[in-house]
Amino acid sequence: MAKDKGVHELEDLPGIGPTTAEKLRANGFDNIEKVAASSPYQISEVTGISSENAKKAVDAAREATNIEVQTGTAVLEKRESLGRITTSAKGLDELLGGGVETNGITEMYGRFASGKTQLGFQLAVNVQLPVEKGGLGGSVLFVDTEGTFRPERIKSDAEGAGLDSKTVLDNIFVSRVTSTDQQILTIERADKLIREKNVKLIIVDSLMALFRSEFIGRGALNERQQKLNAHIHKLQRLADDYSLAVYITNQVMDNPGMLFGDPTTPVGGNVVAHAATTRLYVRKSKEEKRIIRLVDSPSMPEGETVIKITPDGVRD
Ligand code: GTP
Ligand code: MG
Repeated sequence: MAKDKGVHELEDLPGIGPTTAEKLRANGFDNIEKVAASSPYQISEVTGISSENAKKAVDAAREATNIEVQTGTAVLEKRESLGRITTSAKGLDELLGGGVETNGITEMYGRFASGKTQLGFQLAVNVQLPVEKGGLGGSVLFVDTEGTFRPERIKSDAEGAGLDSKTVLDNIFVSRVTSTDQQILTIERADKLIREKNVKLIIVDSLMALFRSEFIGRGALNERQQKLNAHIHKLQRLADDYSLAVYITNQVMDNPGMLFGDPTTPVGGNVVAHAATTRLYVRKSKEEKRIIRLVDSPSMPEGETVIKITPDGVRD
């Protein structure tokens, strides 16, 4: 499905302001397609707006939602034309089908000190490489929610990749955020920076930390998931609009209800699970070794590989 320019969010529909949009989301109408597929009567019921206005909104949603038909070949060509960022570890690149893909969200989840941030640093360096060396020749927006951005570490990764560390650091735009509102706004307002600085990678490290600390208890869960949903959709839209890669890190919790296998579950629920194009699970092994499992991918089979976190960065 493709949308006309201009109508992306519920708020872009005529007569739908922020309050009405919230009511729609709270009732499961969380995107334009769902409004397009509903009746004006339903929309009027859940929002309280008049049926005439509801009809206008539904008509606009339908107009903005063209159902496109493509050949399988065209879909394959689009897949193959996606940009990829090398991870500096051959095995991991292969697991990912060539590296971290553009036009989508790659999530890495795992326990503390498992290496999620380290891989983010490596990608922030590698995206600056020219395409023939596994990069995208672009810069980075790094949203740091935990205060763990380490320029010294970027420096050694850059030197390890044969790049000038000052130039590399100059091309990483760090936004240190301390509330979900700041985190959301940084992404909402990212378009200008992306265009002006040719940003090809957005890192949100970590996606959930602030959401978890601000929205506590069952009562707050609904609101948290709604905000999170909008935040993630904006990230996905930036990935599509600018053919850039999004790398998010995520925390885990133990799932005691699970009797077999590894009970470690990423946080964020279905909202994150559905939005992440590619999901990776990293866990510590001996010393500098880390085991990475591809849990979910649009085109590659599940599998595992081992990387090392060395003084020069991520390696096989
Ligand atoms: P949380 O953010 O706490 O959830 O963890 P994380 O998964 O982001 O962990 P992170 O990527 O920060 O990995 C930490 C691990 O990376 C450390 O335990 C070290 O093994 C390794 N590491 C961190 N900094 C360096 C460094 O400068 N040199 C080397 N060689 N290894 C490092
Ligand atoms: Mg971290």
